[in-house]
Parts: sequence; C-alpha cells; structure tokens
Amino acid sequence: MKIRLFKPSLGEEELQAIKEAFDRSWIGLGPKVNEFEEKWAKYVGAKIAIGLNSATAALHLALAVFKFPEGKKVLVPSLTFSSTASAILYNRLIPVFVDSNPVTLGLDLNDLDKKYDKDCVAVMPVHYCGHPVPMEILVPWARSRNLKIIEDCAHTSGSIYKGISLGLWGDIGCYSFEEKKLMTTGDGGMMVTNKPELFKDIKAMRWVGIEKNNWKTAQAYTTTNIDAMHWFYELNVLGYKYNLNDLAASIGLVQLEKLPAMNVRRSEIIKQYIDGIEGLSGISPLLTYEPGKYVYQMFGIRAAKRDDLMIHLKSKGIATGCHYTPLSVQPLFKTWGNNCPFIEEEANKFITLPLHADLKDEELDYIFDSLRAF
Ligand SMILES: Cc1ncc(COP(=O)(O)O)c(C=O)c1O
Repeated sequence: MKIRLFKPSLGEEELQAIKEAFDRSWIGLGPKVNEFEEKWAKYVGAKIAIGLNSATAALHLALAVFKFPEGKKVLVPSLTFSSTASAILYNRLIPVFVDSNPVTLGLDLNDLDKKYDKDCVAVMPVHYCGHPVPMEILVPWARSRNLKIIEDCAHTSGSIYKGISLGLWGDIGCYSFEEKKLMTTGDGGMMVTNKPELFKDIKAMRWVGIEKNNWKTAQAYTTTNIDAMHWFYELNVLGYKYNLNDLAASIGLVQLEKLPAMNVRRSEIIKQYIDGIEGLSGISPLLTYEPGKYVYQMFGIRAAKRDDLMIHLKSKGIATGCHYTPLSVQPLFKTWGNNCPFIEEEANKFITLPLHADLKDEELDYIFDSLRAF
C-alpha cells in the first residue's frame, strides 16, 4: 500500500467550475474572487474577507497595513512554517521567537510574557495543527500592551473557539488554501477582519496598487454612455501582485461547499488515530486533540524513536513528515536568538502521519498494523 501524507480532495464539481471560468473566458481577478470573498466572510462570520494568492501574502499584508516603524519587534512562535516569520522580515521588522506550550504546542504564554519588551508591536499566534491558542487569555494580554494581533489560521478553517471563529479574535486572520490544507484552491489565501477600516488600502495592496473592479471595467469597454476616462486608475499605495484569481476562486467556491463534510471526515480519522495508538509504547498524540470540537489540518505523534519509526513506516509505503524544525534553529532566523529550549528539543520526537479527507478506513488499519509491528 502507498499512503500519502496529504492529498487534496477534488472531484468533477471543481472541474466543472473551472470549465465555467473558461467558458466566461475570465480567469484572472474577477467576479468569482468577489463571490468567494463574500462566501468566506459569511462562513467565518467576518465583516470583510480579501482573497490572496497565498497565506504568505496575507501574512505579509496583514503586518504591512499597520505601517510599523522599521526595526520594531513581532512575537511569533518558533514552531511554525517559515511564512509566519518571513512576513515579519518582509516588513523589515524583527521576529522574537516564543517557545511552545508543552501540552498544546501553541504559544507558551509564560515565555511570551518573558520575551515581550517595549519594542514589540504585534503578536502572531499560530493555531498549530488547528488547535486553538487560548485567545481569551492572549487577547487581553496583548491589548493591555497595545499589541496588534494577527492570527495565522493556515491550519484551521471554520473552528469556533469559545463562541468566536478562529481568525476573528485578533485584528486580522489569515487562511491558506494551498493544496495540503483543509480545503484548497491550488494555491490561495484569505485575510479577514471585523475592522473594515484596516482593509482600507488592502485591495490596492494586493493588486499592484490598483483599487478597481477590473471585471466591471472590462465590461464597460463596450457599453455606450461611458466616460472616456473609464481606464484611469490612481496609484496611492505600494501594491504587490498578490491577488487570488478566478480559476482558483472557482475551485474554492466548490471546496467551501464541501468543507464541512471534509472537516467531519478529518475529525473521524483523528478519533480513530487516538484510539488506534492508545497503549502503544513510546508513542503519544502530538497534542491534546479535541476532534469534533475543532478542525485539524495535521495529525501527529511524539515518538521516542522518531527516526527509526519514520524509516519503518516509509518501508511500509506510509508517508510521514515533521512539522516543523523550530524556526529559532534555522540558519535564516538564528540571528534572532536560539532561545526556545523546550520546542527545540521536543520537536525531535515529532512525526506527522497521513491525514486527508479521502483517507480510507483500510488505510488507517494498515497504518495501525504498521505502528504495532514497530
Ligand atoms: C502555519 C502556516 N502559516 C503559513 C503558511 C503559508 O501558507 P501558503 O502556502 O498559503 O502561503 C503555511 C503553509 O503551510 C503554514 O503551515
């Protein structure tokens, strides 16, 4: 058996949606992006959502809207994907790496408090694997220090934590639709807020500085009573080529319809994993999963003999991963301090196991057999 670690769950419906975009002959920034933004905003309960070509772009712009002075500091977990901290460097700010809570692997709030100083301007909680950071504690802590809060929601889509969607606890929430995520558009991202004034310039920032409905303008080329200046746009802000396009949004609209069912299946799989590994010596779940309550993009374990187990699973055709090498030990980021002792050691035990909505029960049984054999 060959079992993939991640796999997008795609079908005829997505193909049909792409075909419709082809039939309209409009595959760039257009009406499907607008529709997807509106539906996403509704899905998470946000006042406004903006579609980007990645969560990386969303994180970059989420910090950029605040125009922090160069050299200020941003608190970020060491245990995250490169993008969360790269967004800080893109903005000429300084990452301050925070250790992980030993149980949940989210931001360690004690270490956060220790690492804070007066130069900090923002904090970027990452809902690692999809498990919520305790936002009811983090938000008042950050507000009392005048910090902006940007939630990295790349591993979650649609979880409600204590009555509020993850992504709406802070100032801006950023989601990923890259192909390994809970739903996909190939590549893509979304940023949301309940403070629309923050997104005043964001449409221009995501599309090379132009704030204009390109789709409507294109239609206006051929309508009659139109003024001769219909082509004109003014550049007021520095923009990037970060927009989502209609091809991706067409896929996203279909995936969004399927998302609740895909999330249910992922929760079922995680429950099976938790039962399936119970009692196996030297292996425990990566964190305190609460499937059914929250949505998880990754399932992992902590294994005493990590490398041997990975090789064993590989020999059985089971793909594994490790998410992540803590950023504070990566050469790119080391300059800013190798000071997250718990996670830098603990991450050596991490193994990510296959999890995707199409994973079959027989495949899970095969994974459990292989774990037991080890
Ligand atoms: C925690 C986290 N943040 C950000 C990203 C970046 O997402 P994207 O690939 O959509 O840019 C990822 C992608 O894996 C991620 O895992």
